[in-house]
Amino acid sequence: MNSAASSRVPRHIAIIMDGNGRWAMQQGKPRLHGHEAGVHAARTIVRAGRDAGVEALTLYAFSSENWLRPATEVSFLLELFIRTMAVELDTLHDEGVRVRFIGDRTALPSNLLAIIEASERRTASNPGMVLVIALGYGGRQDLVQTVRALGAQIEAGALKAADLDEKTLRDALDLGDLPDPDLLIRTGGEYRISNFLLWHLAYTEFYFSDILWPDFSSADFHQALAWFAERERRFGRTGAQVHSERGDQDAQ
Ligand code: IPE
Ligand code: IPE
Ligand code: MG
Repeated sequence: MNSAASSRVPRHIAIIMDGNGRWAMQQGKPRLHGHEAGVHAARTIVRAGRDAGVEALTLYAFSSENWLRPATEVSFLLELFIRTMAVELDTLHDEGVRVRFIGDRTALPSNLLAIIEASERRTASNPGMVLVIALGYGGRQDLVQTVRALGAQIEAGALKAADLDEKTLRDALDLGDLPDPDLLIRTGGEYRISNFLLWHLAYTEFYFSDILWPDFSSADFHQALAWFAERERRFGRTGAQVHSERGDQDAQ
């Protein structure tokens, strides 16, 4: 890796934390044990991201479709989110992390909702890394909600359909003001998006790891960062154009 590449830290990383259930079953334990272990991995990676100078880290914790899992697993996960936020909030706040949640909150129990709102309120003016937790999130649902909200503005005469552009739509989506993810990491050996950030991943670099989420370490995270630093992001242009814009000596 050359020195220019090594300084290329992604501004925004999104992670699909997959493989908790299989990790537990490999150890002959119930799936729920894997979710507990997954929280430890998340804590490690939040710290690693912050230390690496990442501006925003978005963790996929529970998808819109995860509501379809057995009721015992769903209620365990909801309780785990409450417990985890209660334990972690002080530390996250002390570390200057700004916590935000994305996803549909309507189905969330009131005690989870309360801690989500308290975490966001308490950390809102922190200067450090933005930690986005996607909970009850689905990329399609995000798009539907957004189109509905913009449609209502059009109906009310506050917006003209002809004025609707990429920026209007982008700003109305759940991640709002954050830059699109530069790097997506998916653990657990699956090669799919599973309804994560459909709009925002248009030009994101995808890094897939076979490691099951509870085993994903800070060293594995740094391996993903090193891989990212070697990517040449072209955004539709040619390599030569990119090199010349960067002022490379060997640009054609
Ligand atoms: C990811 O791990 C955590 C959530 C989706 C909540 P899984 O629970 O999907 O684990 P596997 O994929 O079944 O191993
Ligand atoms: C994606 O994992 C959602 C989260 C990690 C929260 P899933 O385990 O739900 O994805 P599929 O069902 O295998 O695509
Ligand atoms: Mg899974």
